[in-house]
Amino acid sequence: MPRNIAVTSALPYANGPIHMGHLVEYIQTDIFVRFQKLCGNRCLYFCADDTHGTAIMISAKTEGITPEQLIERVHNDHHKDLAAFHIEFDNFYSTHSPENKELSELIFSRLNEKGSIAKRTIAQTYCDNCKMFLPDRYIRGECPRCHAPDQYGDSCEACSGTHSPTELLNPKCAHCGNTPIRKQSEHYFFKLADYEKPLKKLIDAGHTHKSVANKLDEWFSTGLKDWDISRDGPYFGFKIPGEDDKYFYVWLDAPIGYMASAKNYCDKHNLNFEDVWNGDDWQIYHFIGKDIMYFHALFWPAMLMGSGFKTANNLFVHGFLTVNGEKMSKSRGTFIKAATYLNHLDPEFLRYYYASKLTAAVEDIDLSVDDFISKTNSDLVGKFANLASRSGPMLCKYLDSKLGTLDEQGRLLIDELIAAKQQILNDYEGLNYSSAIRTITALADSANRYVEQNQPWTTIKNDLDTTRTTLTAVINAVRILSIYLKPVLPAFAEKIEKFLNISPQCFADIDKVLENHTINKFARLFERIDKDKVQAMIDESKDTQAAPAPQQTNIEPLAPECTIEDFMKVDLRIAKVLDAKPVEGADKLLELKLDIGCCTKTVFAGIAKAYKPEDLVGKIVVCVANLKPRKMKFGLSEGMILAAGQGDADIFMLTTDSGPSPGQRVK
Ligand code: MSP
Ligand code: ZN
Repeated sequence: MPRNIAVTSALPYANGPIHMGHLVEYIQTDIFVRFQKLCGNRCLYFCADDTHGTAIMISAKTEGITPEQLIERVHNDHHKDLAAFHIEFDNFYSTHSPENKELSELIFSRLNEKGSIAKRTIAQTYCDNCKMFLPDRYIRGECPRCHAPDQYGDSCEACSGTHSPTELLNPKCAHCGNTPIRKQSEHYFFKLADYEKPLKKLIDAGHTHKSVANKLDEWFSTGLKDWDISRDGPYFGFKIPGEDDKYFYVWLDAPIGYMASAKNYCDKHNLNFEDVWNGDDWQIYHFIGKDIMYFHALFWPAMLMGSGFKTANNLFVHGFLTVNGEKMSKSRGTFIKAATYLNHLDPEFLRYYYASKLTAAVEDIDLSVDDFISKTNSDLVGKFANLASRSGPMLCKYLDSKLGTLDEQGRLLIDELIAAKQQILNDYEGLNYSSAIRTITALADSANRYVEQNQPWTTIKNDLDTTRTTLTAVINAVRILSIYLKPVLPAFAEKIEKFLNISPQCFADIDKVLENHTINKFARLFERIDKDKVQAMIDESKDTQAAPAPQQTNIEPLAPECTIEDFMKVDLRIAKVLDAKPVEGADKLLELKLDIGCCTKTVFAGIAKAYKPEDLVGKIVVCVANLKPRKMKFGLSEGMILAAGQGDADIFMLTTDSGPSPGQRVK
């Protein structure tokens, strides 16, 4: 019996472009969906843009357009980028939709009736200049623990500590620079703790991977807290019924967006939404990244339980993408947008590479540029495309494009390929794509060995029949391999189908054999990657990141004017780095010892993510030499060095290898 399956990927935020990190998820999900379809199951893939919230409202304002205009433009970009990577949604919708509004109101009112919603007045940080409550990320100030300046309202990048916005010293509105105030307002809370028992039961029943369940246990043991699901205006979102200026928090309506996307599809395709989303005949699978587990393993199932909907059959969680072993970084050019990748490389290279790395575990996956190039060239070009290009052109040129029949040796090869079927299917179903790819490449090795042994380029000179028999086996191997790879490489599989003059293949076609059949002309499949192309992509990524999404940058307004006399109070000196070392317990800080001519000074600088200590020793930098010493958790900081940037790896110091001698004043 074919299964009915509804599948979702997390909804990308509508305030930034699709990047290579997102693609881990969309490619992982798309492979699963294509696999199900190729097995003959009915599988629908739903997604949407996540369009609400403060960040989108502010981005739109900064651009001088309405949020609606912004999300429409981003929707087109997202859809285009994802389609170019062969991500084939059945519906890619928007959370800013009538279906979503209706379902959000329905779920909220059912939760309310059930007594799962509480109302409480709380005090929050408010900017009287911007006339809005400030989300934690829109408040900047000094870390209460390590005193690093310019930290977010919720956590410190220098010492990795977390805090509440009220603890931040000298807080400022990140938007306008004003000092915010505290203001009271009434909020709606979802009483998550009421659902602890059924949530535990759900997790115990295998709702998600073991390692996720372990993480959830930690959260259960610290206790589930009420969840604030309302926001005061101005806010871009759905108004809470009965309220004048209060909105649903974006994370309330975002997962409901999965349902809304399904409903919109069902209505257009004459399917009953209740059957699909709430019936026993359909299974629901969510794919998400590990950063949003709390929302999907706790809030979301609890909301569904409380409002009389069934919970998903499985929640699949993947890890994060690193590039060359490190977090994607704009300064290193490894924050690569989908659109930038497409300017240089074939999307199937990335699909194949991710597939070769993905497992069911919640582990980060690393894209190492050298490994990516070598895997593409050795597997896609060297193993799969090569097999076709060694057999197709010869068959067309010398043998009237006509296959013969398999002999015993050919039959053995094909039987070996067919025998791996169940194993490969199990691996796809269990999200062990890397294992499936290993099996498939081993089969390609067998087929290439078969070609080596039979030497068709030699036999073609005097034995056409034997050559035809050999090539018939090779072509059948190509066909079977392309079906195995079809969930990962749909365009490659389609090219093979055209070349072999056969109808679209699925897994049921694996066991068939193609004999006495005329094929079409061979067209090239994959070109080798050369390193220049990858370098060009990285270079382009460096350039285009000059103006990142407004959520990530805050171009601060200029400070009030200062006079030359004010400026001269700051004693800037040329300094030489005598020593640099990491600070234990603060992974962003380096402790620097500086020679400033007259004396040495110790400075704690938040540059550890951008500079290696050993690279700094001997460098010339500029130091604020007369800054009042400040006691930090880790010791006394006696000055500052001049640097600019967004933080993390994006920090740039004024530095040279040689130059003026230490102690000279900078004027
Ligand atoms: N809008 C929310 C999801 C709401 S779902 C109801 C969101 N959006 S996101 O754009 O930040 O991320 C979308 C998905 O991409 C998430 O599952 C996230 O984990 C995943 N990824 C984003 N960056 C990623 C990496 N660098 N690596 C792997 N996956 C990443 O979260
Ligand atoms: Zn402000």
